[in-house]
Amino acid sequence: MPIKSIVKSTGGYLPEKILTNQDLEKMVDTTDEWITQRSGIKSRHIAADDQTTADLAISAGRAAFEASGLAPSDIDGVIVATTTPDQTFPSVAVKVQAALEIPAGLAFDVQAVCSGFVYALATADNFIRCGQARRILVIGAEKLSSIVDWNDRTTCVLFADGAGAIIFEGQEGADDISARGIHSTHLYADGRLRDLLYTNGGTSSTRTAGHIVMQGREVFKYAVSFMADVVNEALEENNITADQVDWLVPHQANIRILEATAKKLGLSMDKVVMTVDHHGNTSAASIPLALHEAAADGRIKQGDLLLLEAMGGGLTWGSALVRF
Ligand code: UT7
Repeated sequence: MPIKSIVKSTGGYLPEKILTNQDLEKMVDTTDEWITQRSGIKSRHIAADDQTTADLAISAGRAAFEASGLAPSDIDGVIVATTTPDQTFPSVAVKVQAALEIPAGLAFDVQAVCSGFVYALATADNFIRCGQARRILVIGAEKLSSIVDWNDRTTCVLFADGAGAIIFEGQEGADDISARGIHSTHLYADGRLRDLLYTNGGTSSTRTAGHIVMQGREVFKYAVSFMADVVNEALEENNITADQVDWLVPHQANIRILEATAKKLGLSMDKVVMTVDHHGNTSAASIPLALHEAAADGRIKQGDLLLLEAMGGGLTWGSALVRF
């Protein structure tokens, strides 16, 4: 029987401070009505000044770890998807490893912006299936508030902070989609589209982190088309139809993108996990946070078939079919 990477446990962390659309109305020339209509966001969490991405990642990772019933020595590796590391190096992953007292094993960060969690999940799955690791803690963590230009109303109303975590464990399972675990992953990038969403700074160019710059309307068009393509690819590869999917767990960028993707798939919105209204866009953290929230409140149950999908700067995009 083949090895499958099954979800052992999930965890999440959101900073205490909540920033509402009404708060933003006092900061930039915007309205609650505009933000709600164009993005579906009503509020988001923002980290404290002294709270770093690693702090968020450690809290989410600890929650997943405690829910797993495992010992630190049971974990072989840590992969963190982030675009906002505390430092240029070392990685956020090694800070998580040290904080959770996980013994020496692989630990590194993955940078694929909003698609980062799907890239990190695919990386962990490959390590597990080839037998190089048994259990990997995969985290998506972001402090996007530190790279947002708080005077730019076109971006500051969208992005937010948080972290989500999943521990994957290798287990033998049936060679069909009845088995728990990751069934397929599909990753893409098209670097020719990198100027649609970027930071106007970086370590080797400006020696700063820079701020997010986005051509929102253009990114929106690509998002709807790429996400629909990549979820269809996951369905085709596994010989299933959309009605067999229990939950679509999409990257939470914009409710209109979620609705358009669901419509293209013929899925009703009550099969889509939606957190963008109260989380905002937390980039690599959004999928594991959404998944954790829906698992914790009982919507997602063990055995449910989940379709994960994301799209972000690069442009990068990807999907994964997972039986929870
Ligand atoms: O997570 C990574 C992937 N990212 C995404 O998927 C984001 C994709 N893009 C989007 O979600 C949407 O394009 C946005 C939410 C960013 C923007 O919505 P939109 O309907 O595409 O609006 P727009 O950019 O076309 O702007 C429409 C108008 C503009 O005014 P004019 O030129 O029509 O006079 C903007 O200046 O809205 C104006 N505007 C605002 N007005 C009030 C832009 N930002 C704001 C704001 N408040 N915060």
